[in-house]
Parts: sequence; structure tokens; C-alpha cells
Amino acid sequence: MGTKILVTGGTGYAGSHTVVELQNSGFDVVIADNLCNSKKEIITQIEKITGIKPEFEHVDLKSPEETFGIFKKHNDISGVIHFAAYKAVGESTQYPLKYYHNNLYSLINLLEAMKEYSVNNFVFSSSCTVYGNPDSLPVTEKAPVKPALSPYGNTKQISEEIISDTVYTSQLKGISLRYFNPVGAHSSGLIGELPLGVPDNLVPFITQTAIGKRDKLKVFGNDYPTPDGTCIRDYIHVEDLAKAHVVAINRLIKEKQKDEYEVFNLGTGKGYSVLEVVKTFEEVTGVKLNYEITNRRPGDVPEVWAETKLANKELGWKAEKSLTDMMKTAWIWEKNLAENKIF
Ligand code: UD1
Repeated sequence: MGTKILVTGGTGYAGSHTVVELQNSGFDVVIADNLCNSKKEIITQIEKITGIKPEFEHVDLKSPEETFGIFKKHNDISGVIHFAAYKAVGESTQYPLKYYHNNLYSLINLLEAMKEYSVNNFVFSSSCTVYGNPDSLPVTEKAPVKPALSPYGNTKQISEEIISDTVYTSQLKGISLRYFNPVGAHSSGLIGELPLGVPDNLVPFITQTAIGKRDKLKVFGNDYPTPDGTCIRDYIHVEDLAKAHVVAINRLIKEKQKDEYEVFNLGTGKGYSVLEVVKTFEEVTGVKLNYEITNRRPGDVPEVWAETKLANKELGWKAEKSLTDMMKTAWIWEKNLAENKIF
């Protein structure tokens, strides 16, 4: 029997890839998910990749009873990786309370249950959105947290504060991982992103346009102060991202932390423009993409990419996969979905 990790949101996009990496590293996994934005079949998909079926608890972390119930039932949990949250930026501006209610209650219930059951290792799924429009690039972890551009972003900032306040007044030890732009799918083609409805994010929109589900990709603005006028982001392959979580939870369990609360950027350290992403997709797949330049999308920052030295040095982790890998796997996943090979 390995060390058991609770992965909340473990049937979701980043969560499912992390479950695979945890199992491949010898951890036992229990997933807690309310399936509001994911499918239970992902558990079978995970089993196809690793040969191990993770345990699954269909619970809603907004309920204290259900949250405490997980720890009561699984009294051998050594650490928690917390992904479960709403993440659609646009929706959060329309329904802020829905976002605050879900993302913050879930976190608080989880931390209270962890305290009650003396589970002290906590890894949190945060976002580079906390940096807003950064003053200098690449963005280091020391860059100031800027006023959030959306209720979703604000839930990430408040969550980080809740975790750091809790850490400094209890036995809890925490690591927040600030993701840049996770994209791509598992190299097996068996798990990937499953956007609900029309995707907000660039890469699922590209693959859905290429497969014919969407008519045309809108490139939101080409008048930014960047070399080709389109926004620049630090895209990171979701498998690389997942591996960082395994390193982070191991760091906590093995008491390798330099501080009770630590924050790391997860990116490649390299930025690509929207048009570079589109071009790479076309080159990798041979599919010509139907796209047009439109107005800017409100709230988009012109450019952001990560300083990754801290994660490289302290975690001994480095993103390895290229933009080509990201586009290739995202496309294989989209085709597998279209051919009903997954569900
Ligand atoms: C967005 C969120 C960020 C969140 C992340 C989760 C905003 C302002 N930020 O990041 O808080 O953590 O998703 O993955 O929403 N683009 C197009 N056409 C499209 C879609 C996107 O041109 O149809 C462009 C965007 O303008 C942007 C880039 O592609 O320049 C990436 O966009 P997206 O994938 O939505 O990610 P972010 O906006 O960086």
C-alpha cells in the first residue's frame, strides 16, 4: 500500500492528469468530485492508463458533512491536492456569488476537516491571474498580487490568503502552485480537457474549430504592443503541470519545505502569441484553421510569462514538453472525442 492522497476535482482536467502521475509514482489516490464539470467515466480512463482504479467519492465540498465524511471514511490520507473549483472567468463576472460560494466554502470546509483529522499537507491549484497585468517580465513569485480582474481571479487570491493565514496558525503546511496556461492532453489520448459548452480558452476553441464543432476562431485583437500584435501567454503541457503536483506533495510529506507556506509558478518560462499558437497547430496537424481578427476581449493582459527558476531549483522540476507536443496531444484528444473513442 502506498501513501494515500486525496485529490479534489480529480476527474477534472488538471486533476485527472495529476491522479495519473500520482499513481505512476506509487501513491494511492482517492478522488473527491461532485462531477459538476466532469464525467465519472474519466475514472475508467485513468484506470486504462495506469492499470489502477482510483477510489472515488461523489461528494460536494460545499457540504461540511460530506467533506468531513471523506476523512472519516479514509482515515489514512497523508495529503490533499485541491483542484475542485469553478473556473470560467466570464461566468464568474455574471454570477460572482456562485463563484465565491463554491470556491471559498469548499476550501474552508476542506481545511477544517483536515484540521479535525490531523491531515497537514496541502497543495492548492492557483493561477497566474493573481499577478494581473505584471509590471515586469518574466513574472516572479515576488511580483505583487494585483487587484483581481474577475470574481474567479479573486477567489484564487482570497484562497491563497486563507491558506497562508491557516498555515501560520496551525500545523498545516501549504504550497500554492500558480499555473500559467495549461493546455494539451495526456500522451495516451485517453484523458484531456472537456469544456462545458462553448470553450472560453484558446486551445479547446482551436481544436473544436478544426474538428468542425465551431465555425471560426476569433483572435481577440492584433493591436497589442507585442511583435505580431496578439497577446502572449506561457502555455504549459498539462502532463508537465501534473508532475509538479507530485513533486509538491512529496516535498510536504518529506518535510523539505523552506517555509510552512510556499508559492511556485508553473510555466515553461517562454511566451507565445495567439498567432504563433495557431500557426503551430496548423503545422503540427496539417489542418487549416478558419480564423478572423476581432476586437480585444475585455480583461485580457497583453503579455505574461513565468519566471520558473524558483520551481526549477526548489522543486527540481522543469516543464519539458514543447508547444508542438501541446498542439499534437490536444488534437489527438479532440479527434478521439469526435470519433466516440472515449465515451
Ligand atoms: C484565462 C483566464 C485566467 C485563467 C485561465 C484558465 C482571463 C482574462 N483569464 O487565461 O484567469 O486562469 O484562463 O485557463 O480570462 N483567445 C483568443 N480567442 C479565443 C480564446 C482566447 O484570441 O477564442 C486569446 C486570448 O485573448 C488570450 C489567449 O488567447 O490572449 C489565451 O486565452 P485563454 O486560453 O482564455 O487564457 P487566458 O485568458 O490567458
